[in-house]
Amino acid sequence: MSFEARSTTARDALRFRFRGGDVALRQFSPRATVLDWLREEMGAKGTKEGCAEGDCGACTVVLVRLKGDRLVCEPFNACILLLGQLDGAELVTIEDLAVGDELHPLQQAMVDTHASQCGFCTPGIVMSLFAAYHSGQPLTYTGLCDQLAGNLCRCTGYRPIIAAAMETCNGEPADHFAATSQERAAALAALVDDRDVFIGDEASFFAAPASLDSLAALYARFPDATLVGGATDVGLWVTKQLRDLKRVIWLGRVVGLDDIGESADGALSIGAGVTLADAMPQLGAIHADLGELLRRFGSTQVRASGTVGGNIANGSPIGDLAPALIALGGRVVLRKGDKTRALPLEDFFIAYGKQDRGPGEFVVAVEAPPLAPHQHYIAFKVSKRFDEDISAVMLAACFNLDGRKIVSARVACGGMAATPKRAAKAERALAGACLDEPASWRFAREAISEDFTPLTDMRATAAYRMTVAANLLEKALVELSGAGPPTRIGMLHAAE
Ligand SMILES: Cc1cc2nc3c(=O)[nH]c(=O)nc-3n(C[C@H](O)[C@H](O)[C@H](O)COP(=O)(O)OP(=O)(O)OC[C@H]3O[C@@H](n4cnc5c(N)ncnc54)[C@H](O)[C@@H]3O)c2cc1C
Ligand code: FES
Ligand code: FES
Repeated sequence: MSFEARSTTARDALRFRFRGGDVALRQFSPRATVLDWLREEMGAKGTKEGCAEGDCGACTVVLVRLKGDRLVCEPFNACILLLGQLDGAELVTIEDLAVGDELHPLQQAMVDTHASQCGFCTPGIVMSLFAAYHSGQPLTYTGLCDQLAGNLCRCTGYRPIIAAAMETCNGEPADHFAATSQERAAALAALVDDRDVFIGDEASFFAAPASLDSLAALYARFPDATLVGGATDVGLWVTKQLRDLKRVIWLGRVVGLDDIGESADGALSIGAGVTLADAMPQLGAIHADLGELLRRFGSTQVRASGTVGGNIANGSPIGDLAPALIALGGRVVLRKGDKTRALPLEDFFIAYGKQDRGPGEFVVAVEAPPLAPHQHYIAFKVSKRFDEDISAVMLAACFNLDGRKIVSARVACGGMAATPKRAAKAERALAGACLDEPASWRFAREAISEDFTPLTDMRATAAYRMTVAANLLEKALVELSGAGPPTRIGMLHAAE
């Protein structure tokens, strides 16, 4: 049924859980953020604003959602989370943790280990740790470093913070949230419905369609509306560019858009609304480098919110998934009205800021074929920091081998052109090369410099980018030939 037909029955209120009760909001700006609502409307100033762009984690809150019969607890950056994205969730903030004068075990451990000095980062850090405390996963040192990659502490240093976490996050949670989990799950279950959400009027609205048909109908009617997956890009349009978003369509309630399955030809099909966190194990199962790439994608907060569809649809020349999946031979599936089409991912990116996506058309899924035994895959991300940084250069390659001969190769780069792009000349230069004869593949280095004319910007100079891309290609070939061992900063980090 179309959105129009359903809209008479659409829900006109946002519903979520907060401080032990149900909240229903019928009037709010579609561009309102959770942080502004907390601090300005609720007077809840414990959640801090630092960067207002998803980088520092001072604004970290936890959302609890019912997934199947399980309560899933994840940290989010409230500064770039739209208020409407709370629909169906329980919002937990730093004020909720202590019971009267009794601190939460995590807060008490932070006190005991002297893990806070100025205290500005502390609420965000505690909330990130609170999500880990309720994750149901045993916490390792490396896991903890990953958990805190999106929380910047400028003065205390991480040693006492990690000590507090290591002593608390080991074993079953034993706080008042654990004690009330059944009642809280029942309260969240009571919020579940299959109705479209439409709050506002035609001029200004926040909508959250419940089905693909509703989404297609609504977007066809309002092709100028802003689609929002996780808002890890769109949130910055609000906080940094001060854009006035009048019509917002959030994809987080569309049934089916968060499916992970298999396409007719056996490729992994990841719904556009699947979060980067949920895609991580699936992509990591295709190749370990893809798992490692996802681990270095933003932070835990960014991966909990950001979606696979958003990373492709934004058309960014420095997005990580596009080159990684182009090298695999990935496809993007698009829908407009009731028509669906699929195209090779590299053809989706036409020019800077221009993708092959018509008005009212949206990304439904991204498909990643599995690797055949004769295929060898490699992906490198080079950025200024290990944690939470966008790539200066990203190179991914897939080599088809016949014994020691390279029959063909797909090489794709990010950060080297106005779009994610294949290195056509380097690919041609590699065809027929022999892994035992470095001279036969070394000239691919020169070829890749003819494939790209990178820019100089704040992340890197053009000359640096060119040198790094050529080096990465050579490094891939050295590894593949067995002449040198694979080396990754991530591998060293994980071994600690
Ligand atoms: C602190 C921080 C760190 C980051 N680190 C990385 C990183 O390491 N690597 C990286 O690649 N990116 C990074 N990003 C960028 C961003 O997180 C990713 O691009 C993310 O995947 C965007 O997904 P989203 O769902 O949040 O997109 P949104 O912000 O919701 O949307 C992004 C764009 O895509 C459109 N859109 C969303 N879904 C669809 C759809 N289904 N169909 C059509 N259009 C759609 C939106 O309208 C918008 O134009 C980072 C961002 C932040 C804030
Ligand atoms: S204020 Fe820095 S991440 Fe939100
Ligand atoms: S305690 Fe001051 S920033 Fe962390």
